[in-house]
Amino acid sequence: MNELEELKTITQQTLQLRSRDNFAVGAVPTRPPRWAYADKNLFDLEKSELFGRRPLLVGFSCDIPKPGDFFTFDDLQVPVLITRDKQGNANAMLNICSHRAARLKEGNGNARSISCPYHAWNFGLDGKLKKIFKEDSFGEVDKCDYDLQTLPCAEKYGLLFISLDADAELDIDQHLGDLAPWFEMWDLMQMDFIDQYQWQAKGNWKHALDTLFKDYRGMASANTTNTDRVLETVADDERFGPDQQHHRLTFANNALLELRDSDPGTWIAKQLHSVQRVHFLFPNISLLISQTAVELFVLYPGEEPGRHSTRYRAYRRTDTKTIASSEQAQTHFETMRDLIEENNQPLADGHEHSARDDTDQTPSAVMNMQRSCLVAVGIDPDSPARPN
Ligand code: FES
Repeated sequence: MNELEELKTITQQTLQLRSRDNFAVGAVPTRPPRWAYADKNLFDLEKSELFGRRPLLVGFSCDIPKPGDFFTFDDLQVPVLITRDKQGNANAMLNICSHRAARLKEGNGNARSISCPYHAWNFGLDGKLKKIFKEDSFGEVDKCDYDLQTLPCAEKYGLLFISLDADAELDIDQHLGDLAPWFEMWDLMQMDFIDQYQWQAKGNWKHALDTLFKDYRGMASANTTNTDRVLETVADDERFGPDQQHHRLTFANNALLELRDSDPGTWIAKQLHSVQRVHFLFPNISLLISQTAVELFVLYPGEEPGRHSTRYRAYRRTDTKTIASSEQAQTHFETMRDLIEENNQPLADGHEHSARDDTDQTPSAVMNMQRSCLVAVGIDPDSPARPN
């Protein structure tokens, strides 16, 4: 696959839809019942089944480019440490010392090994116990019994996945399904991290999926000059992956119309900014991949059904012909952050999801994600019954 050619194809398809004045929004499936956003038993099931066992995209290869690089992950209330070892492999482990459960690392950085701040036991970047400080004072210790608890970790196409289930098998290609060739084409290895921000807000994490969609509409507008705005709600809506749980939404803006009567052979990368594609990876990720940037939004359930958090991370692609400067990328990040802050203010202020939200133009992709959440925990979305 060739990224520019694929972008041209999608642009042509979007123009054809536009010429028929028939953007493919499609029939929107029914929204799950209201209790699905507040039921504590369902919330607990989601945390164990959707977030406790499945692959979780926690970052990109460029977040730990060198041996010794690490970052911590606490968004699901389980302390995790992700490292790159001396062999270049990515590892994930609980960020908890195997001796007396002290927390091992904070934030991100680079280290030759993992040294516990409490009694200075020393672990390799793969989690193996290497050295016990003043070993004699601890009596007889079999080092093999004190390795850190490792977690499944897989790295492919520049993506970093972990699972919180120590026994899970991570198969990224299987997880991505027919999206895998797209990620292979993008090969997101060459990126610079720009910035990140996290919102803690009221409201169920699944409601935040709707908010994300609205944020993307705003983003598609903000990414263009003021002569442009989003043409329609969604230009295209495709489903991918096992059980068709992943989605791609294509947003188009007015700049698209300028390409209408021209030869696609003359289109250049810059002109193709008129379509933006957002991938929703089940259950909690949205990922915008453009010629210049990768923007990751991840939703996490909070400690109760009515709380969630959203993490936004922005990266600058350095492998394409239209490389944005760090300053441009930072400005874009701040614009998006402020826009989202504004859109999410009602949730931050404690106004829950309203009846109006049930009738707005939520695309079928978002509704399908919501319904797939029920299916994944064994509930029929067309005849839902509360879990016991
Ligand atoms: S708690 Fe880590 S070495 Fe004791």
